[in-house]
Amino acid sequence: MRVLAIETSCDETAVAVLDGQRGLLAHELWSQIDLHRGFGGVVPELASRDHIRRLLPLVRAALEHAGTSAAQIEGVAYTAGPGLVGALLTGAALARALAFGWGCAAIGVHHLEGHLLAAQLEEPAPPLPHTALLVSGGHTLLIEVRGIGEYRVLGQTRDDAAGEAFDKSAKLLGLPYPGGPELAQLAQRGRAGVYTLPRPMLDRAGFEFSFSGLKTAVLQATRAAPLTEQGRADIARAVQDAIVATLCTKALRALQFTGHDALVVAGGVGANQELRARLTREAAAVGARVYYPRTQFCTDNAAMIAVAGLHRLRSGERADLTIDVRARWPLEELAPPGGRRA
Ligand code: KG4
Ligand code: ZN
Repeated sequence: MRVLAIETSCDETAVAVLDGQRGLLAHELWSQIDLHRGFGGVVPELASRDHIRRLLPLVRAALEHAGTSAAQIEGVAYTAGPGLVGALLTGAALARALAFGWGCAAIGVHHLEGHLLAAQLEEPAPPLPHTALLVSGGHTLLIEVRGIGEYRVLGQTRDDAAGEAFDKSAKLLGLPYPGGPELAQLAQRGRAGVYTLPRPMLDRAGFEFSFSGLKTAVLQATRAAPLTEQGRADIARAVQDAIVATLCTKALRALQFTGHDALVVAGGVGANQELRARLTREAAAVGARVYYPRTQFCTDNAAMIAVAGLHRLRSGERADLTIDVRARWPLEELAPPGGRRA
């Protein structure tokens, strides 16, 4: 089966073509970062308008690069939530219309299921069951993945997501939006241990996170004295160290709890090299292996939506003609593929 997938849940417009046998044939992405930078964050209405402008040319490019005609597409998958409703509707409406026009099936995909399945595009693919650490701008979750669509949330953040903590700290350090990658770069020149920032919930049992105290501590550190370039780098290093240490400790604890020997890392923060290096090292020490999507597929993309869509379409699951998107959509509401048939 060959599917075309569309992702428009936030500020990336993405289209991909995935073939069940031949693998990923094309993936196109337009990032709106420049559009939103001046506002210091995503402006929903501007995001929706830009998705509409970019979508059709990206669909055409994806079909061309995949060497596929529309007639060869057997299903269209689209992100149906969670995300910005206006932005989701642009992708959902186009996807549903394309499927209608092409006379093929359509399926709405859960954005986080997409992130969770992104590592399946790599060799070797992660085994099932496994434990997953999903860390993005909007989510920080530890999940027991028993199978596709069978997710049990072990713990999540009580306040800010890990990506949000990166972004807010970066903003306080005067770095441009989105700050995660910028802060990581600055941290490379920072010295360890010059600043010690709080690592909340670290000493508490369980799998919950809390990152909101971090930005207050960063604010205090930046105000304590006039900051030199080295001082900013030292703070960036401390922020990254605090977030990475917290994520690693809890992820390792989750592995111990589930008894799995495979950990899948997903979401934008999964692109962080420090996090990857430390997780790989610590997991290896307990005989576990960590699976990552390529960094490009950690952040939002349509390839991951195609993977999730393909699993569901192949099982006969279908979206009906009502175009439904959801701003909020708990992951645990999902069922194994085959559930919803129109
Ligand atoms: O998954 P994603 O693209 O979008 C959401 O669904 O949220 O994640 C974006 C988040 C942002 O907060 C961004 O700053 C963070 O991932 N991020 C990083 C890195 N690359 C992206 N954080 C730390 N280090 C990175 N290298
Ligand atoms: Zn995402």
